[in-house]
Amino acid sequence: MDYDIQNIELALEGNLRIEWADQYMPVLRLIRERFAVEKPLQGVKIAACLHVTTETANLMRTFIAGGAEIALCASNPLSTQDDVAASLVKDCDMPVFAIKGEDTDTYYKHINSVLDIHPMITMDDGADLVSMLHSERTELLDDVTAGTEETTTGVIRLKSMAAEGVLKYPIIAINDAKSKHFFDNYYGTGQSTMDGIIRATNRLIAGTTIVIAGYGWCGKGVAMRARGLGAHIIVTEVDPLKALQAVMDGYRVMPMSEAARIGDVFITLTGDIHVLRKEHFEAMKDGAIICNSGHFNVEINIDALEEISVKTRRVRTYVDEYTLKNGIRINLLGEGRLINLASAEGHPASVMDMSFANQALSAEYIVKNSTPLEKKVYDVPEEIDATVARLKLQALGIEIDELTDEQKQYLESWTIGT
Ligand SMILES: NC(=O)c1ccc[n+]([C@@H]2O[C@H](COP(=O)([O-])OP(=O)(O)OC[C@H]3O[C@@H](n4cnc5c(N)ncnc54)[C@H](O)[C@@H]3O)[C@@H](O)[C@H]2O)c1
Repeated sequence: MDYDIQNIELALEGNLRIEWADQYMPVLRLIRERFAVEKPLQGVKIAACLHVTTETANLMRTFIAGGAEIALCASNPLSTQDDVAASLVKDCDMPVFAIKGEDTDTYYKHINSVLDIHPMITMDDGADLVSMLHSERTELLDDVTAGTEETTTGVIRLKSMAAEGVLKYPIIAINDAKSKHFFDNYYGTGQSTMDGIIRATNRLIAGTTIVIAGYGWCGKGVAMRARGLGAHIIVTEVDPLKALQAVMDGYRVMPMSEAARIGDVFITLTGDIHVLRKEHFEAMKDGAIICNSGHFNVEINIDALEEISVKTRRVRTYVDEYTLKNGIRINLLGEGRLINLASAEGHPASVMDMSFANQALSAEYIVKNSTPLEKKVYDVPEEIDATVARLKLQALGIEIDELTDEQKQYLESWTIGT
């Protein structure tokens, strides 16, 4: 079996951590147990490009239990946990192509390697697989039935492909399931982004001024957690509604040009490009910390930072200090890549349980669904979304009320008034 990982000797450590995560993934476990009996994915080839974490490993185990043949590469050069990659190869006999810190050439070589299995389903986090298939590996497109996409940025890219009429097969937008983004983007990114910043810097958050760029699902989650740790929050936005929401949630809102002068820590979560750039760096205080938790490493203009710097040195793991011509030092975390995965372990298992339950059930849906799907981006079927939430509540031992017949009738009617 072909694979490319850091060190197979790390498998035992990885296996223990995968087992640890599994205890917090009851919904996925339930699906895995059913898949092991029913084998809904027997012989189905899946190419997966996901962050190689303990939670992803449990998703891979679920697909293998369902009979799939699957190959995995990383969806970000810094998001691989090398011990997990080792365990997947050794304990699951699975081809994995992912090394933490791989350079850009290796990253794309690894994407090509998973595509070499001639997938029937693609599973993306950021749409890099789809992009490679549509540009350099078009000979494989005929084999692909459908794909899934995990994150906001990937869904945006795919919708733009569909709008231009260039998307060659249907995609299910896992991100857009309520049981995904209400929880993963909000609670998951909220906790793990702060976790990444704290592990990278060991800085006290209480009393710190944190600037959060983007008040979407992820930005709201990070703002909530940072406030809980005692930070003063400033939000920057381009959408008037989101900005207003931030104001009414009790945060200060201002343009980045003003926030740049005040902030101690800056976090970008916009899915946009060059949100932090030259004029902002030049206005920052000495010792400012900048990082990104949006999907791609383009939110901070690192080239511009390099251009105005006279000295760069690595002062801690994944902390690069840039000294500007004016003597100001700016600390860039995680090379501008997702800080929660570069310096921490990504989202906690309990929240990935729901995101990956959607992935597993959507893959089964692609295989079993009899109505042909068009070449566009689909929502996760509502019954899957509801099932994931119901199973999670069940696992947590929480019961909820049911509508009475009278209530159902009332909610459906327009005749009963005052
Ligand atoms: N770190 C993680 O593990 C993780 C998890 C989920 C999603 N993501 C990624 O995080 C990013 C945000 O995802 P989301 O679900 O919150 O998206 P979202 O669409 O809900 O929010 C993005 C927000 O950024 C704002 N924005 C855009 N350009 C801006 C600018 N120049 N300045 C300030 N604000 C701006 C938008 O108006 C919007 O409110 C995406 O790239 C997504 O793929 C990361």
